[in-house]
Amino acid sequence: MQKAKLNVASSRGKDTGADTDPSALRTPSDLDEQDRAKVAGKINGLVADAYVLYVKTKNFHWHISGPNFRDYHLMLDEQGDQIFATIDPLAERVRKLGQKTIHSLGEVMKLASLGENDKEFCSPAQMLTELRDDNVAMAKALREAHKVCDDADDVATASLLEVYIDETEKRIWFLFEAARNADDGGH
Ligand SMILES: [Fe+2]
Repeated sequence: MQKAKLNVASSRGKDTGADTDPSALRTPSDLDEQDRAKVAGKINGLVADAYVLYVKTKNFHWHISGPNFRDYHLMLDEQGDQIFATIDPLAERVRKLGQKTIHSLGEVMKLASLGENDKEFCSPAQMLTELRDDNVAMAKALREAHKVCDDADDVATASLLEVYIDETEKRIWFLFEAARNADDGGH
């Protein structure tokens, strides 16, 4: 605690250079520093993937077509909102651990493991299947991050991830059922 207090005081005392002093960002914590860095590495990857999946889900919300338009359009809006709502709490967990999180969309694209989709046209079946698979990949990454949190005794991040795993599995369930009989004509 003493060390952290000194860091805060020294960063405040400088008129210049505070923004180049990384110690200013070291939020005090009783958890092991290396463990916190490992958790941050996993969580920052999840934040990046949440951005990519959010944009893709909204992309498909805007561009989906066919006879089930209204159902799919509304479902993807709900899912997009749910994914977006995970970004800030995850990034703030990283800062609560005294680590650095995402700074830019450039960093998002460097850290993301999910791919974008900027095709001119996708059928509803293609969209629902791609989102289902992305959400399955996200559930796997969330579970891997949860294990790192357990190893670090970081129960707060772990409990947040448990909620997001359940939400991701719900999205997978809905996308699986919606895609089950979807054909390229949107039926
Ligand atoms: Fe909308």
